Formats: sequence, C-alpha cells, structure tokens
Amino acid sequence: MQFHDAVRVRVPAKINLALAVGPRRGDGFHDLTSVFQAVSVYDELTAVASPDNRITLVMSGRGSEDLPTDEQNLAVRAAMLLRERHGTSELGVDLRIHKDIPIAGGMAGGSGDAAAALLACNELWQLDLNLDELRDLGAEIGSDVPFSVLGGNAVGTGRGERLTPLDERGALHWVFALAHGGLSTPGVYRVFDELAAAGRITPDPTLPAGALAELISGDPERTAAVLRNDLCAPALELRPELAETLAVTGDGVLASHLCGSGPTVAFLCRDEASALALMQRLSDTSLVRDVVHGIGPVPGPVTVHEAAHP
Ligand code: C5P
Repeated sequence: MQFHDAVRVRVPAKINLALAVGPRRGDGFHDLTSVFQAVSVYDELTAVASPDNRITLVMSGRGSEDLPTDEQNLAVRAAMLLRERHGTSELGVDLRIHKDIPIAGGMAGGSGDAAAALLACNELWQLDLNLDELRDLGAEIGSDVPFSVLGGNAVGTGRGERLTPLDERGALHWVFALAHGGLSTPGVYRVFDELAAAGRITPDPTLPAGALAELISGDPERTAAVLRNDLCAPALELRPELAETLAVTGDGVLASHLCGSGPTVAFLCRDEASALALMQRLSDTSLVRDVVHGIGPVPGPVTVHEAAHP
C-alpha cells in the first residue's frame, strides 16, 4: 500500500529583509539576526516510496544540471538523516525535484529542497514527526532549513535557526534579478571576516529598535527604508559587478537589496505594474541571467498526497 503513495511538496524561496551579522564564533558560524520572508518562487519535490532501501534523486528545471544528486545534495541528506534518526534501514525513496528557485542565489533553494524532503519523507514513511521536530532536524542540515519548513515571516537568531514566527501583513512585490553564476555562502562569510579583521566593517548581530515592526509592516515604503544586509559588502568584494545591478532604479522601484549571501538582487517595488516594468528594463540589459517576479510573504510548504503513477 505504502509503495503506491506519492507525496508532493511545493516549497517557497526566502529572502532576508534584514541580515545583521555578528563576529565569527568559535564553531565557525556567525551569530545573526535574520528577518526571513517566504516569497512566491517555488521548487516542487515529489517523493515516491522505493521498493528497496535506496534514496535516489532526479532533478529538472532552472539550472538543475549543475547540481549533485548524491548525498552532497541537501534533499538527499535530509532524507538520509530522517531515516537514520526516526526510520528503519529498509526504507527507501525516489525523489524528484523541479527547480524554479535560483541555485546558489541566496534564496534558500537547497535549504528549501531539504525542508521539502523532510516533510515528504515524514509523510511517506509515516513517521509522524511534528513540525517542531522537523525544524530541529532541519537545523542539523543547514541554518536556513528550519525557516524553509515554516514559511511566512519570521525572525531567526543564533546562526539563523532559532525562529520566532511573525505576523504576515501585506503583499510586497519583488523582482529578483538572477546573476550569471552563483556565490558560495561560506566564501562570502570568509570575506566578511576579512573585512571585519581589516576594520572595514563592524560586525553587529542586532537590529535597531523599531526596525522589525517596519520590516513586517506590509507597507512597501516603510519596509524599503529599513532593509539591511550585512553580507552585501563582502559579496560586492567577490563580485564588484553586482554594484551595477544594485544601482538599477525605475519608477516605483523603492529599493534594491542583496538576497542572503547573493548574488541574486531583489528589488522592492511599489506595486505589480512597477515590478513588471522593471522586469522588462532588466531583461533588456546584459546584467542578469533571468528575472523573476515574486510576492511575499507567502505561507510555508504545501503538501499534497497523490496516487503514484503505475
Ligand atoms: O548553515 P549552512 O550550512 O547553510 O551554512 C553554510 C555556511 O555559511 C557555513 O558553513 C558557514 O561558513 C556560513 N554561515 C555562518 N554563519 C551563519 C550561517 C552560515 O558563518 N549564521
């Protein structure tokens, strides 16, 4: 019976409305305050029970040919971790992921796939873990995985994994400018440390009083005024040409902002019309690989059960 079930999970990308980064800790991570927002760009993962105990992965969609499908892939790692901690060695799964979230783009594409794999395999293997347990397990895979399980708006502290859900108000219109090539998150943090050692930046993992309320006001002008990303300076050291994308403006374009560790640049727009006009303008330049429109906040992953195809 179980072998005829399939579980499909649609998981949204995230952006960080604020990323306030402190000094490097003893364990190599950085304490931070991250204000996460889930946005309407989705990866879709389908999990089908395997007749043996293999965990396999096939990928399709935007840039997927560049990704590993073995245990280097966070989705495979998530399935393996869940089985090891809560399942039995005879469980297996065939995973399929269709990607729309940019790869190595600072939008939690890999973390989203890991979150989707946890949710799907939990259902498929009937393990009955609750969302808190899945978030805790996700934190072992990556700092952004717990938020990818949650969605909406949330503030993350620690290395980003300790989450407090926040109100969801409004619908912000974002345009995402996908860069040519990706950026490595550890690489960006390494340059952050170098800039701090040289006294060029001062690590501070706190947000000014009142910033949080403005960020999640749902009002695009108020949000635009307090967007912050401390990884922007190190990302620009590695990819100076991003400055040109960040400088693009237009009618109703309220702010440009680096997504996570980059290199995707997000533009906050006043409304849909200004977002669509900006997309056209960006597409006419050679600065970007692709442009995508998204709305945030959106709810977290949605799980659908299906009969497997015979
Ligand atoms: O947790 P995750 O695997 O996504 O992090 C990737 C890398 O980013 C870490 O290995 C670390 O170098 C860096 N990182 C950090 N501080 C954080 C989160 C990530 O230094 N709070």
